[in-house]
Amino acid sequence: MPIEHSNYFRNPKPRPLTVPKLHHATFMTMDVDAMVNFYELVCGLQPVYYAEHAAWLTNDEANHRIALLRLPGTHPPVDKPHSAGLHHTAFEYATFNEWLDNYIRLRDQGIVPTICLDHGMTMSMYYADPDGNGVEIQVDAFGDWGMSKEWMWASQEFSEDQIGPQFDPELLVQARRNGLDPDEIHRRAHAGEYLPEVPRAELTFADPWPARIEADPTLTEGVPFPPMPTES
Ligand SMILES: [Fe+2]
Repeated sequence: MPIEHSNYFRNPKPRPLTVPKLHHATFMTMDVDAMVNFYELVCGLQPVYYAEHAAWLTNDEANHRIALLRLPGTHPPVDKPHSAGLHHTAFEYATFNEWLDNYIRLRDQGIVPTICLDHGMTMSMYYADPDGNGVEIQVDAFGDWGMSKEWMWASQEFSEDQIGPQFDPELLVQARRNGLDPDEIHRRAHAGEYLPEVPRAELTFADPWPARIEADPTLTEGVPFPPMPTES
């Protein structure tokens, strides 16, 4: 059914006359270097400005997409996986093959996703950054934002299950090698045919902070405040 026939697209929605676009997300961190390295490796984000106290990174035409602030007074989170706040940011590949190739590239460097989900409208791999924030790398299952939005709004499937089954990315690599096309792989993944041997029980990421604090107990003192200017 063409999307213009749907109620969602026909009905006006209240909104400002002109809308701002989502531009960037900013994290407080205690280790700018580790975060820059990770986001550069995983998403190809490169610093536009980079210093010990802050960095601004982009991987497209915007001046930045992710910013990192090492603000004085910042201290480690307590039970990061179960704390309210940001769960993940997300980046999207235009094609299934680029998306799966990125998985292989990262796997070969020892970086593997925490959890992989076929949400129905996207196939998504979730990585954890050094601070325990998630990063979703996805590909749109419809190859068309209008269609995937319509599917979320209108489909019975999404109303019954907003998460979808997990998949083992190695099984996707194998399926592609066997000549299956992306639509077929998505169909099978969403039907639960590529489940991992040991599915993950939670949608949370591992907590890196206890081990980091053990390695460097001074972290608990927080990022130091700059010294007060001395009076002359
Ligand atoms: Fe997401």
